[in-house]
Amino acid sequence: MIEITEKNKDNIDLITIKNAKLEVTLSNLGCTILKIILFKADGSCQDVVLGYDDIHDYLKYDGYLGAVVGRVANRIAKGRFKLNNQEYELAINNGPNHLHGGIKGFSYRIFDYRIVDDMTVELSYRSQDGEEGYPGNLDVKVLYTIDGDRLLIRYLAQSDQDTLINLTNHSYFNLDQDNHGIEEHYLQIDATKFACVDGDGLATGEIENVAGTTFDFTRLGQIKDHLAIYDKQLELGNGIDHHFIFKGKKNQVSLVNPDKSLQLIVSTSLPGAQIYTANYLDGRMGKNGQSYPARFGVCIETQNMPDAIHIEKNPTTILKKGQRYDEFTSYQFIEL
Ligand code: BGC
Repeated sequence: MIEITEKNKDNIDLITIKNAKLEVTLSNLGCTILKIILFKADGSCQDVVLGYDDIHDYLKYDGYLGAVVGRVANRIAKGRFKLNNQEYELAINNGPNHLHGGIKGFSYRIFDYRIVDDMTVELSYRSQDGEEGYPGNLDVKVLYTIDGDRLLIRYLAQSDQDTLINLTNHSYFNLDQDNHGIEEHYLQIDATKFACVDGDGLATGEIENVAGTTFDFTRLGQIKDHLAIYDKQLELGNGIDHHFIFKGKKNQVSLVNPDKSLQLIVSTSLPGAQIYTANYLDGRMGKNGQSYPARFGVCIETQNMPDAIHIEKNPTTILKKGQRYDEFTSYQFIEL
């Protein structure tokens, strides 16, 4: 069932998709996920993402809670890149670099939307040529579907000029009923390599093996144990704030709550994910009078390589004119 649950004069609306297992509330502002409520076997329910009570708070704060991030998620060195021998200049909005699509990236844009069927809503947006410095008129569609215990996000895009794209969803998950931070959660990532960062969080292009480092999540491990080990990369990221390169093609990330009663499995067509342990959350007030200090959530930002335009020989973030960008990520919630 889909319902428009809030309509505002400024065209920022809330839409709720619901079945017997899940209730997902999202907004056409930034395609933001406000709530993912699980209906559990014992009759109780639980919200598993961070957010704000008032939709307009999403315009006031940084942190990208629940939002779709674009055109290009993560950082672009010095906010400059060259494409087809032309130099482009983007906003510098994070230290010396460009972050998450710029000053007014997709997270802050109002999307059109239409209800496709009982379980799917499609949000669409035309990003104009030159918007936030990026070339090409880019038509973006984001589809949210629920199917049983799964939330599915499909991303579609097409441009009339060669451009860059790297879309992700920036939800902060917390599977702990009692609302502690995520240090006691368990994490497993099907990745044998990760991307190193500098002190500004920018991917340097150095790719390291996780084996023998604290970034080895190939087996389920408690986040706090990984954070407790000294590692230069952990220090530079102020925690985990790194891109992991997947080995497999499905069910690549798993997050389990402290008493191991609930599991989130993330499955994606994308080749990696920025795993971010909310190192920069600052104690701001979130939903239901709960404040959000650092480490209160974990983001599993499925995407292509950060700063691919500078790092990769054939950058995976280039979208050629007329070519179709078509990726998906699903989030499955299982009671154990
Ligand atoms: C970045 C962090 C940043 C956060 C919120 C993450 O995707 O990797 O460095 O602080 O988003 O902006």
